[in-house]
This record gives sequence, C-alpha cells and structure tokens, in this order.
Amino acid sequence: MEYRAKQSVNRDMVAVAILAAGKGSRMKSNLPKVLHPLGGKTLVERILDGASVLEPTRRIVIVGYESDRVKQALANYTHPIEFVAQTEQLGTGHAVQQLLPALQDFDGDVLILNGDVPLLRDSTLTELLETHRQQQNAATILTAQFPEPKGYGRVFCDNDNIVTQIVEDRDCSAAQKQNCRINAGIYCFSWSALAEVLPKLSNDNDQQEYYLTDVMAMLSPVMAVDVSDRQEILGINNRQQLATAYDILQSRIKEKWMMAGVTIWQPDSVTIDDTVVLEADVVIEPQTHLRGNTHVGAGACIGPGSLIENSEIGENVKLRYSVVSDSVVKANTQVGPYAHLRGQAEIGENCRIGNFVEVKKSTVGDRTNAAHLSYLGDATLGEKVNIGAGTITANYDGVNKHPTVLGDRTKTGANSTLVAPLTLGPDVTIAAGSTVTDDVDGDALVIGRSRQVVKPGWRLKTSTETVGNQ
Ligand code: UD1
Ligand code: CA
Repeated sequence: MEYRAKQSVNRDMVAVAILAAGKGSRMKSNLPKVLHPLGGKTLVERILDGASVLEPTRRIVIVGYESDRVKQALANYTHPIEFVAQTEQLGTGHAVQQLLPALQDFDGDVLILNGDVPLLRDSTLTELLETHRQQQNAATILTAQFPEPKGYGRVFCDNDNIVTQIVEDRDCSAAQKQNCRINAGIYCFSWSALAEVLPKLSNDNDQQEYYLTDVMAMLSPVMAVDVSDRQEILGINNRQQLATAYDILQSRIKEKWMMAGVTIWQPDSVTIDDTVVLEADVVIEPQTHLRGNTHVGAGACIGPGSLIENSEIGENVKLRYSVVSDSVVKANTQVGPYAHLRGQAEIGENCRIGNFVEVKKSTVGDRTNAAHLSYLGDATLGEKVNIGAGTITANYDGVNKHPTVLGDRTKTGANSTLVAPLTLGPDVTIAAGSTVTDDVDGDALVIGRSRQVVKPGWRLKTSTETVGNQ
C-alpha cells in the first residue's frame, strides 16, 4: 500500500532532524562521532549551521550514544535545539521513529540529515527543498553518481528520477552492486506521509536494523536529485574521511578568500577556519593558521609561520612567526618574530611587539614598544612607553596575580624587574637592571639596584697565578 502526500499540508514549515545517536565505531574513538571537530566546529554544529539556510522552525537532534555529552556540546547553540532520545541504536529508521511523539502535531516538511555528512552547500539544501515542494513529493532524496560506490546504499529509479527502492551495499546482489547511484543520507519528507509509514518498517536485512531507506518503497512519489558536486556528500565514517573532509573544506575556504581579494602564498601550507573573516588585500604567508572567531583588517600581512586564534588583527598589521590567542592587535602594529600574545592582550596602534616577547592579559597603548625578550602580564601600559630588552613584570606571588601600570612615555631599562602590584606614573625612567617594588608618581629616574663595587688587585686566595702570567 502506498501513501500519497496530502495536498493540504502546511508546506511553509520546515523541521530539521539530525541523526546523531550512533557511536561511530569506525572512528575508533571515545568521542561520539558527531562531536569530532572539523575546522573549528563539531560535525553536528556544522550540520545544524548548514541547515539554517532553510530557516527551520524546529531543530531536532536525535541522540543516543553519550547523549549527555552531545547535549552539553550544543547547550549554547545559537538557536534552541530539541533533543530526542534513541536509547538503543537499532538503525536509521528506528532513529527517525523516535520523532513521532515530538512531531505529533507538526504539519510541514522534515529535512532529515545524517549527522556525519558535513559538507553540504546551502544551495544544495535549498534546491532539495524547492524540488520537493514544486513536485509535491512525499519524499525527495539527495543522490550522486559515485565511481566507487562501495559502502553506500544504492538508489534504484525507474524514469524521471522516481525512486523505487534503496538497497544497502551489504544487502545488494552482485547485479545491484553495479549501480553507481548512491544515497547521500539527506532527505526531505512530507512529515504526514512519513509518519504514516514509519511504524511499518521491519529489520529484515543483513544488519537486522530498521533502515530509514526502506520507507521509500512505501511512499509515492519519491524523487532523487543528483548533487552536482559529489564532494558535498562525503560521509565521515573514519579518520581518513575526516581528513579528506578537512581538505575539501580548506580548498573551499581559501578559494573563497582568494576570490574576495586575499593573497595566500602556498595555500596548501595555510589553514583557515570558516569562522574567520578576512578583508581585501590581506596577505597570508606560508605556514600560517587562522582559527576560530578571528578577523583580519585590510592590508595586514600575516606570517610566515603564525597561528592566530579568536583574535582581532587591525589594518596593515605585520605579524611574523608569532602566536596570538584571544587578543586584539590594532592598526599598523608590528608583531614578531616570535611573539606570543594571549589571554585578552590588547595592543594599540603603531606599536612594536618584538622578538621573543610574551604579553598576557595586558593593555598596551598606541606607539608603545616592547621589542626584545620581555614578559608583560596583567599590565596596563600608556602611550609611547618603551619597554627595555628583558623587562619582566613579576606579576605572580605564587598565589595571586597582581597588576602593573606604566604611565605614558615611561621607559624601563634593560633587564628591569617590575614587582607587582606596581604603579609608575608618566615620564618615569628606570635604570637598567633595576628591581622596582615601590610606586612612583611620575617624572623621575628610578634606580633600584646595588652600586657597582670595584676592588683593584683582588684575586681568589687559592689562585697561584700572577698578573704577569695573563
Ligand atoms: C546510511 C544509509 C545509506 C547511505 C549512507 C550515506 C541507511 C540504512 N543507510 O548508511 O543508504 O548511503 O548513510 O552516508 O540509512 N544513526 C542513528 N541511530 C542509529 C543508526 C544510525 O542516529 O540507530 C545515525 C548515525 O549516528 C549517523 C547516521 O545515522 O549519523 C548514519 O548512520 P551510519 O551507520 O553511518 O549509516 P551508513 O551505514 O553510513
Ligand atoms: Ca555513514
């Protein structure tokens, strides 16, 4: 008995359901498969983000294996998510059966997405839904012609792309295995039609699982839509496919930025998360990695050999061989080689943060330089400050961290130690080698070191050598 799609369903409503209950045993991991990261997002987040183009009214994630971990990972997702439990993983059809109570009163289309197919383009999902609605299908499924279809379900169509059945690879006869049209695991269903046939699934197959794909033979019409770029429907079952997906994603991201006016030298040695935003005329040098919520302003040159995470880099910044995390670098500043900025460091405009300098949770005013071998932690520096080579803020007493404040135009001599908490006003000059422990209002020279002592003719008592021998 076939069930025909009702014409009266509310075709404006879309619910998205993601199959994410499986363990993903082929990943050989403690982490549930859908929580594996891919370019700055977990697989499940990536799929949820991709589905947003359809403006779904409901987002449902079907969870099972380590469900608490999956729920926790999505706790702060940008849209509300409903979780539906599949306590035993008895197959993709069984997973979708768990939607029945949650969608009891739902009267629209449901997009069902495998939790391990993360590279779908917006345009593919939009076309799938549009075709589904225009043709008034009971189900519309995404398919592709794969030269090596092993492992995928094979889709059999009669004419006009109308699907007759889907047979899993392991259930295929030798003749059926010759069919190269594969099921991508991405489906659009008219929910009322699907809900009617879901209870009729059986597990009479090689894996004794309830296959979602078996509903196709019970629905009409079911239409297959071939995806034009088959890389989009790569399913992640093992780490090798995860790495392949990463490479595909990287090529897409770098191509997009190069077309938008960013120069990338040796793109194969560069990685950029798709959460990163670059302005025109940014130059990315080889061996550079840009991650997370990072923005780079126009004309900035990043690299070679740099890592930037969750940071804001201003216009025309030059940054070489350096690591920047959770920090801000303002326009025209030079960073590196070998600088490490972290923990909400904020560097002003036209600064130099140089060779082997670490800055943690500190604010540095405009035109201030710390060019060599320094550590600045929990510090606030005014404008035009000069940090002498080897200056260190001693910010940690073993229990607590303490602040250091340096006024405008203050200069620390080479090898100064600033023992926090410490406040020095503007125009203070610190003599080289000083250990500074007390606050200074400003406009002063501070010398905090013992005087040099010279003892002419002094020798070690045990020495037998004489001046004449040297
Ligand atoms: C599935 C399809 C196959 C298709 C392929 C595309 C079925 C029966 N087969 O096979 O036709 O070519 O995807 O990638 O649907 N899951 C659950 N609960 C379960 C079982 C699975 O939530 O009980 C989830 C998994 O976490 C995963 C997704 O469903 O995200 C697909 O499961 P998987 O076992 O990878 O299916 P395939 O064998 O790849
Ligand atoms: Ca799969």
